[in-house]
Parts: sequence; structure tokens; C-alpha cells
Amino acid sequence: MRKILVTGGLGYIGSHTVVELLEQNFEVVIVDDLSNSKQWILDRIKKITNKEPKWYNVDLKNSENLNLVFEENKIDGIIHFAAYKAVGESQQKPVEYYENNIIGLLNLLKCTQKYDVKSFIFSSSCTVYGQADELPITENAPLKKPESVYGKTKQFGEEIISDVASISNFNTILLRYFNPIGAHPSALIGELPLGIPNNLIPFVTQTAAGIRKELSIFGNDYPTLDGTAIRDYIYVVDLAKAHIKGLTRLLNNENSSNIEIYNLGTGKGSSVKEVVDAFENANNLKVNYKYAPRREGDITSAYADASLAKEQLNWEAKTSLEECLRTAWNWQKTL
Ligand code: NAD
Ligand code: WQD
Repeated sequence: MRKILVTGGLGYIGSHTVVELLEQNFEVVIVDDLSNSKQWILDRIKKITNKEPKWYNVDLKNSENLNLVFEENKIDGIIHFAAYKAVGESQQKPVEYYENNIIGLLNLLKCTQKYDVKSFIFSSSCTVYGQADELPITENAPLKKPESVYGKTKQFGEEIISDVASISNFNTILLRYFNPIGAHPSALIGELPLGIPNNLIPFVTQTAAGIRKELSIFGNDYPTLDGTAIRDYIYVVDLAKAHIKGLTRLLNNENSSNIEIYNLGTGKGSSVKEVVDAFENANNLKVNYKYAPRREGDITSAYADASLAKEQLNWEAKTSLEECLRTAWNWQKTL
């Protein structure tokens, strides 16, 4: 049985990926310091899978403790999710963001060298493309100067990993996620936003639940069909499955180069208004909303050309927007 280290494995995307790994009979070791997750997520993972991943409450910034994890476990591959991810907060706390997302990554890369781990998957983001000149966005689109410190940590992360791969016998896949949404069909795990959500879907579900009075749709004067901004919303379970495909490719030495990059999206753009309509239809309820000015730093439109992942990883998004939004609402109801 192959042993996979999942950093940030109790977080939103990490927990869904751990479930998929366990269901495909990988042995899983989680490193998560609970800075943006809860310990009970571990019990939920056990409940879904009937399996027990090992969990270390270790901060990746603590190199000594991280080394212990590798001393105690012979790791075959790593999926690195652990990072701070709030775009707005990253502007207020640049030092903390650089420290967590970069030092954490460097400590982990040092361990890959010391303990000879050759397969490494990195969570990157469509944020590295900014407002792309051409849509859909392919992996070859030029990277734009990121608008946020968070975005910079993703671009720097990609570069650091690529530099390491260029000098060593180390194979990596950089996965650029578009907008992950939804929750596990069991409604036992999902996204846990801290405080007032920044992201659209948790704001929509909290408004439907009466926790927020009203959703503000940021901007109805974009040059799009209905004036609202367009994104590519990808179901978190579909996203999780792509990690297993990528990891297996690396573990089986099927990769064609030691650095591969894949967009993970549906290939279809949806406007904010379309998302709100789809949420209402899927769940048979109404969401209070108003139009508000554009949010600073937002782009008009981003959606993936996901054909490379289909060709090379044999992966594609399967779940409809309405189905995703049904799972998001089922999860919200449990909170
Ligand atoms: P999340 O915050 O839910 O999960 C991250 C997990 O990492 C949390 O459980 C947190 O406790 C843990 N963590 C953070 N810093 C740590 C550290 N120093 N040591 C140990 N554990 C630490 O976030 P998510 O939405 O699941 O995102 C996972 C990854 O995907 C992140 O790298 C994020 O930047 C990237 N990403 C997310 C999105 C998105 O919209 N959710 C989009 C693109 C990329
Ligand atoms: C989606 C759309 C908003 C909230 C962010 C990060 C990106 C990546 C994914 C990590 C936009 C609109 C939102 C609200 C709204 N994360 N909106 N009212 O901004 O596309 O991407 O998450 O890597 O880096 O920037 O996602 O969910 O915040 O917004 O109208 O209350 O919904 O303006 O058009 P975004 P989002």
C-alpha cells in the first residue's frame, strides 16, 4: 500500500481528497495544524470511509516536527494543500502569508530531498493567470503579475518547485484550480469559512440559511451576457479525483516531463447571476440579493481550457452546476 502525505488534509479540498485516497486504498498521513480546519473533520473522514488516516497536528513552518513525520513514515508521495488562502487577508498580512505559504513549502521540499520523496502535487490556482487575454485559458497562457500577496505566493511556489525539479530527480504536477465549490454527497464534510465568507457560494448558502441578510452581487456592468462576472465553478469531489489521477501518474512514472501543469476546471463559464439562479432552481428556494459595485481586484471572466487534463490525466469534471449547488446547500443545512 502506498503511503501518501497530505498537507492541509483536514481543510476543504484536502479532506475531500483524503476520502478519495482512502477509498482507492492508499494509506494516508495528514499534516494539518488546524489553522483553518477542525479536528472533527477527521472523525467525519473516518465515518465516510471506515478507515483511519494518521494525523499530525504539525505546523509546516516547524521544520523539526515536520522531520519527525518523515522519520516515522516512509512517504511515497505528497499532495501539498496547506496554505493560507484568503485573498483580502493576504493584503493585510503579507508577512504571515509569505511565511506560511513559502516557508511551509520550503520545509516540505527539504524533506523531499532528505527522505527521497519523488512525487509531489502542488495546489496552484487560476489566480496566476489574472485576466487572461484569451478565453478559455490554456496552461500556456502568460502568467500575469498577481493582484494579491496570496496570488504571489502561488506564483512563487510554482517557480520554487520548478527550480527544485530542474536540478533533481523529482517529479511534480502543478494543479491550477479554478473555483472549487460544493461538498461531499454525504454532507459530512465541506467548506468551513471563517467569519464572513469572501467566496460566492458560502455567501449564497449563508444568505439562504438566514445567517446573512443579503447577497451583494459585485458588479452588473461587466461586458458579459447579463453584466455579472464569469467564473469556472468546479465540484470539489471532481477536483479531488484529479489529484488521485495526477498522483498515480507520478507514482507509476507515466509523466512525460518532470514538471507538468494542468488546469482543473469544467471548461464552462457561469455568471454570478446564473449561479444564483441555478442555486434557487436546484434547491427550490429564493436568495435575497442586490447589485453592488464591482469588488476591487476582480476580473471580468475566467474559465479553463481543461482539455490537457482530459488527454493526459484521463480526468474531466462530471458534476453539473446545479448538482454542486445542491450539495453546497445540504452541507450548509448541517452547520
Ligand atoms: P483550507 O484553508 O480549507 O485548507 C488548508 C488547510 O491547511 C487547512 O486545514 C489548514 O488548517 C492547513 N494549514 C494551513 N497552513 C498550515 C501549516 N503551516 N501547517 C499545517 N497545516 C496548515 O483551503 P482549501 O480551500 O482546501 O485550499 C487548499 C489549497 O488549494 C490551498 O493551497 C489553496 O491556496 C489552494 N486553492 C484553493 C482554492 C479555493 O478556492 N478553495 C482555489 C485555488 C487554489
Ligand atoms: C466569484 C465571483 C465575485 C462574493 C477566488 C480567489 C482565487 C481562487 C478562487 C484560491 C466573483 C462574485 C463573490 C460575493 C459576489 N482561490 N461575488 N458576491 O474571486 O473568482 O476567486 O477564489 O486560489 O484566487 O481570488 O472567487 O468566490 O470570491 O468570487 O458577487 O459576496 O462571485 O465578484 O465575480 P474568485 P469568489
